[in-house]
Amino acid sequence: MSCHEAHGTWFCRNEDREVLVSEGQAGQLHYALFGIKGSEEWAAFKLKTRALRTADLKAYPELPDTAMGFIDPDQNCVVFVPESDLESPTQRPSLATNSDPLPPAASQHFALRTPNIQAMVRFYTEDLGFILSDVVKDDTGQLKACFVRGNEMHHTLALFGAPVSCFDHQSFETPGWHELKDWADHMGQLRVEIVWGVGRHGPGNDVFFMVRDPDGNLAEISSEIEMCDASRPVGEWKHEERTLNLWGKAIMRS
Ligand SMILES: [Fe+2]
Repeated sequence: MSCHEAHGTWFCRNEDREVLVSEGQAGQLHYALFGIKGSEEWAAFKLKTRALRTADLKAYPELPDTAMGFIDPDQNCVVFVPESDLESPTQRPSLATNSDPLPPAASQHFALRTPNIQAMVRFYTEDLGFILSDVVKDDTGQLKACFVRGNEMHHTLALFGAPVSCFDHQSFETPGWHELKDWADHMGQLRVEIVWGVGRHGPGNDVFFMVRDPDGNLAEISSEIEMCDASRPVGEWKHEERTLNLWGKAIMRS
């Protein structure tokens, strides 16, 4: 990614992916940004959320005037913008040039840890309209994780039950297995250790590996994620390592 600073925030960008870094407590979400495709879909989203209290977005001058923000039960700020109001790649400053030999890695999903998973999943599905793809439950039937989507991709957001509320990871989609290997080789050359994977998640069925940034946040390279049609029933998984990694070990958040 290429980086520039504005209004006290670092904007790190490459084609189809962007990460913002601002000063503050490590492991917390600055805000999450979703683009909504199509004017009819935007109007439907505004109608659905009309009774919700919107967040004050003055602290984020980079956002277009049409942006609508909401505060989730864990106090994370999630922002929605008509996709047509997002800057196109050519408008973006400091975009990496074609000399970058790495394969594409577009923003795919992100994940949060939460001590309030029931309230969080209710907020994201019932209030904001995300669709529940899969849930993970323990032997007593308690919800431990859930995966929600905004389009056909299996999850845009994953929620993991945990003792504290914090950011968990951001994931970047690379076109296939060979490109995932190229990213792993790149990490190896930089001596950035792969801390989890290569593996395959149960929910979403994506092949993945994860590294940590200097603050300890996980960053994931992912491929082959499941695409869901509207009639897909909600899947249910057992809370065990195999669910989070069909090939072996998992990072258990609780
Ligand atoms: Fe992930």
